[in-house]
Amino acid sequence: MAVITGAGQGIGRHTALGLARAGFHVAVVARSAERGRETVADLAQALDPSPQPALPAAFSWVAADLALGDAIRDAAGTLLVRHPRIHLLVNNAGVASRDYRVTPEGRERTLAVNHLAPVRLTHHLMPGLVAAGTPGSGESARIVILSSGAHAKRLDLTAFEGPRGYSGLHAYAQSKLLNLLHTFDLAEHLRGSGITVNAVHPGLAPTGLLMDFLPSGIIRRTLSPILRMVARSPEQGARTPLHVATSPEVAGTTGGYFAKEAPADPAAAALERENQEGVRRWTENLIGVDWRATPLPEEDPQPQRD
Ligand SMILES: NC(=O)c1ccc[n+]([C@@H]2O[C@H](COP(=O)([O-])OP(=O)(O)OC[C@H]3O[C@@H](n4cnc5c(N)ncnc54)[C@H](OP(=O)(O)O)[C@@H]3O)[C@@H](O)[C@H]2O)c1
Repeated sequence: MAVITGAGQGIGRHTALGLARAGFHVAVVARSAERGRETVADLAQALDPSPQPALPAAFSWVAADLALGDAIRDAAGTLLVRHPRIHLLVNNAGVASRDYRVTPEGRERTLAVNHLAPVRLTHHLMPGLVAAGTPGSGESARIVILSSGAHAKRLDLTAFEGPRGYSGLHAYAQSKLLNLLHTFDLAEHLRGSGITVNAVHPGLAPTGLLMDFLPSGIIRRTLSPILRMVARSPEQGARTPLHVATSPEVAGTTGGYFAKEAPADPAAAALERENQEGVRRWTENLIGVDWRATPLPEEDPQPQRD
């Protein structure tokens, strides 16, 4: 079974559909119960518009506003009760904003939704991923994190401070670099565990997130149609996440960065161990989650003797 965030629209919607077509039961983490019901109804209808769908139970939902730590922890708890073994987690949801915005927990919103939420959700779901990925079980587990080709080339954690001097574009680029640093550091920790973790750039797609960067008025009206012409469709944007999530070619690959359904080179800053370790400690100080804290099964466990 697969868990995905942000499947209500854009790239995530098409990724969820692709996963269901590939045979996964897809549990959608939606921002509210209302969005969960709407999303599952929309996905089921898109998958099979006939009155008697062939796959009536392809989708389910759980509610969590990804800006809120407790909501993520509770949703993960619900998911683990329903699905003790999780074969795939796609951390897709993301936000962008031109203005400085703060969550009810007082955190800059781009940081909270784009970085802290994937860290928390992955951490809280780890028992289910470990259960599915245990070496020798014949199963495996994959984690896919949506980063972006727009990730920053240099780490600057002051990007999330504001409101004075705040740049939404800079905060977004930093949040996508944090996605890579999280991916690569976690991949090292999970090596040999049967759980892989990779990051993707889906390509430029004219989704709500991209449009949120455009100023309103004449500039938006001029740029929107151009963007729609040059960008990939959200459906095309789902290809790389789906490739990394499902392709046998990618089985066993971990700590990778993919674009256009192929391995790609991230900025050097994403590969620096000092940055990875620094961001792990910085994140732990912020939210009390050490993403390397999960006890992992040993490879080829020896039979126990009394
Ligand atoms: N579009 C691009 O050109 C592009 C390029 C590179 C990388 N990416 C990455 O691709 C991923 C998907 O982006 P997209 O372009 O498909 O964006 P999108 O169409 O705007 O969709 C974003 C999704 O995230 C969900 N979401 C946002 N805040 C949330 C919250 N607080 N709680 C729960 N869910 C929340 C939204 O929920 P609702 O449906 O309820 O609003 C929506 O389903 C992002 O990580 C983005 O950084 C996109």
